[in-house]
Amino acid sequence: MTSVIEVKDVCKTYFMAGGTSQSVLKHVNFTINSGEFVAIMGHSGSGKSTLMNILGCLDRPTSGEYLLEGQNVANLSDSEMAKIRGKRIGFVFQNFNLLMKRTLTDNVSLPLIYQNVSATARREKAFQLLDHVGLKGYEDRLPTQISGGMQQRVAIARALVNDPAIIFADEPTGNLDTRTSNEIMDLFTELNKQGITIVLVTHEEDIADYAKRLIMIVDGQIQYDGLREEYKP
Ligand SMILES: Nc1ncnc2c1ncn2[C@@H]1O[C@H](COP(=O)(O)OP(=O)(O)O)[C@@H](O)[C@H]1O
Ligand SMILES: [Mg+2]
Repeated sequence: MTSVIEVKDVCKTYFMAGGTSQSVLKHVNFTINSGEFVAIMGHSGSGKSTLMNILGCLDRPTSGEYLLEGQNVANLSDSEMAKIRGKRIGFVFQNFNLLMKRTLTDNVSLPLIYQNVSATARREKAFQLLDHVGLKGYEDRLPTQISGGMQQRVAIARALVNDPAIIFADEPTGNLDTRTSNEIMDLFTELNKQGITIVLVTHEEDIADYAKRLIMIVDGQIQYDGLREEYKP
């Protein structure tokens, strides 16, 4: 097993104006291997998004080490971090984060503009991915013309556009009804079967059930890390 994520003694403290500070992650340790499907759970404010931001190279730990595919992220410049985000990581958020005035094709293909891919190849890739997430025939629609579940499918297609090794999803079903949530989770399950490592934040038990492994965070510390089915609250 190759580890894609190694978190070693990671702490995160936010320093606020007026000299106050808040210690949000406290000596967090875990490793995630290639091909795993992990759910991170915890109450609101427990530090889940803070941890995801660090894992996704959107923020840095205050102390400790984070190795992504063996690379120590602490030693990387902001532009090197951005490069890794663009090439190795796909993001899916609760509020979809789509450009509402651009077509679905544009939304999916936009990240490729920064990779010097021709317009024709971009469009082809977007069509292929929209088909893959069940949106064939919707290529030229706007996000405002489709449902929330479909918008999240577009966001997943966009996350896949650079063939990422890992997908980080922060409460991806938080704005969706139960049926649509399950469809989105089936899609993540399929992507995981194809070899993509999935790290998912949720506060819903039913959604966490899709993951094999559960990491439970309480007040910035790991309270449980093991098989989802063996977790006893
Ligand atoms: N940029 C920030 N600056 C200061 N405090 C923050 C910042 N981001 C998050 N926090 C605080 O850190 C704590 C954990 O937040 P967060 O990681 O978003 O938790 P969760 O995603 O589990 O709800 C909260 O108390 C929040 O107010
Ligand atoms: Mg959060």
